[in-house]
Amino acid sequence: MAHDSIAVIDFGGQYAHLIATKVRRRGVHAEIRQPEDPIDAFHGYRGIIISGSPSLASHGEDSDYNKEIYDLDIPILGFCFGHQEIATHYGGEVVHGGREWGRADLHLEPGHDLFEGLGPVEPVWMSHYDSVVGVGPEFQELGYTITAEGSPDHRYAAIGSDSLRRYGFQFHPEVDDTVHGDDMIANFVLGICGCTASWSMDAFMAEQRSRVSEQVGDGSVFLLASGGVDSTVAAAVIGQALGPERLHLLHVDNGLMRKDESRQVLELFKDLGLDTNLHFVDASDTFLEALATAIEPEAKRRIIGDTFIRVFQEKARELGVEDHLLGQGTIYPDTIETGATKRSDTIKTHHNRVPIIEEMIANGTVVEPLAELYKVEVRELGERLGIPYAALWRHPFPGPGLGVRLLCSDGIPDTEGLDGDHKAVPEAARRFGLEALVLPIRSVGVKADLRAYEHPVLLTGDVEWTTLLDASSTLTSEIPGINRCIWNLGTEGPDAARPIAATATRARLDVLREADHIVMEALRRHDLYDEIWQCPTVLVPIEVGGRKGEMVVVRPIRSKRAMTASPVELPPVVLDELRQQILGLDGISSLALDITSKPPGTIEWE
Ligand code: XMP
Repeated sequence: MAHDSIAVIDFGGQYAHLIATKVRRRGVHAEIRQPEDPIDAFHGYRGIIISGSPSLASHGEDSDYNKEIYDLDIPILGFCFGHQEIATHYGGEVVHGGREWGRADLHLEPGHDLFEGLGPVEPVWMSHYDSVVGVGPEFQELGYTITAEGSPDHRYAAIGSDSLRRYGFQFHPEVDDTVHGDDMIANFVLGICGCTASWSMDAFMAEQRSRVSEQVGDGSVFLLASGGVDSTVAAAVIGQALGPERLHLLHVDNGLMRKDESRQVLELFKDLGLDTNLHFVDASDTFLEALATAIEPEAKRRIIGDTFIRVFQEKARELGVEDHLLGQGTIYPDTIETGATKRSDTIKTHHNRVPIIEEMIANGTVVEPLAELYKVEVRELGERLGIPYAALWRHPFPGPGLGVRLLCSDGIPDTEGLDGDHKAVPEAARRFGLEALVLPIRSVGVKADLRAYEHPVLLTGDVEWTTLLDASSTLTSEIPGINRCIWNLGTEGPDAARPIAATATRARLDVLREADHIVMEALRRHDLYDEIWQCPTVLVPIEVGGRKGEMVVVRPIRSKRAMTASPVELPPVVLDELRQQILGLDGISSLALDITSKPPGTIEWE
């Protein structure tokens, strides 16, 4: 190992990998390890961090991990579940109870190395059902939180043994809400573990270049270049590693692209000097034929992923480059949301993780220089590689393109998962001054780290933005079967909703492309494009009230790493323009704004 390095043991949950990113931000290399990895896999690290987990330590869940790590003579720090496991291992006690959610004030042990440079009370972020209520003989309390009544509660919000060099935090320093969480992580990694800060994006870039050269040898790489940030940065890294002659780029128009997108993508690669072997295929007919009868989101994702590979392989044969390795711009969230780490549920199968690709990865024929990075890091890398600002900071666009923004239906009302509880929706919404209608279709979401394919609620009413958000979070958390709320931009609350039989046709895609174009232009015109992280426009085959035609939903969100997101309020003038232009499109009769955070809604609807 060239750099000092920290092992992060991933017990699952959607946020575990943020820890590795935070460690790297402070200049120390970090790698993800699985709890059951053999002890040899932990040799060479300067320290270990144990992540949180959806499992309950108090019930002994997930307790069969490799405990030989505790025999290693290197510091170990645990967060949440990791904190509780460390307490238990060294003779402490963990009980089910003492749940805390959200922000809490940590009263810390001043002067301890873990808290160097911090104040006596620090805001931290909690999310736990279990609590440490007793520690072993060699441990001391390093911090506690206080309940509203003022009595010390959950006394063991931070624990440690300096002689053993074992520490635990009940809170999550890896999330941004723990304001000085990065400093706490740095104090552990640089101070207690004594690591030298030598990892940087430049070092990462250099390492990836040599890794790519080594993996590819004398061969070449063939990469599907969508023009999105990830595949473009991946192409640039591979291009630098191998030289543009050994990089073949294929841009496929799958019929699911945005308006005028393919032309812009081809120009971008020319500007980047990566057009030595730049190929283009219009495969829109092939994709649309393959999707002709598909309705279910995972089925659509699989078809799009498989068709990409088929088109790609045909083109590779035609060009005589079928022995080339496959390049992909896979980034870290793509793998975790596909359930690629053992403990994470499959929320969505990302197009670059369909089974055929998994097989190729196992055979070592896939080159993915960005697989460890989050979006922010990919952009930082892209800046260093000289990729133009507009290409780098364009909103992320999913690999399956408009395919996941074009909902399909067999025309039969879908009421699965609604077992009567949803009848409480109108009454619950009325408390917020809103009318509500549960829609007989479903979209994908995520609840407690698990996929939730559930129903949206259409809310109508003229209330404050914060009231809308409160209503959305109340309905999605309290009523089973509901994972999303959308706000009707029409004035009347419809009393009925009917699904329309609809599949992925060119005509529907053209309407969606136009609606998406209208939304993007409005964001640019009103200087909102950079402020908003992503804004999917979704075509939903549902008819509400007496009007004929489908519904368009606009989903402006703010996010940092796509793992969480919050809805963004659009100014009334923008809403008016959208109403006017989108409701004027052929076949569209209603318009709504998605007001759901992630979780429980995902950013895309499918
Ligand atoms: P979700 O909808 O899961 O999306 O909240 C998180 C981020 O990932 C993008 N996304 C994809 N990106 N291939 C991709 O390259 C995919 O299959 C895919 N599905 C979702 C989505 O646009 C958002 O930025």
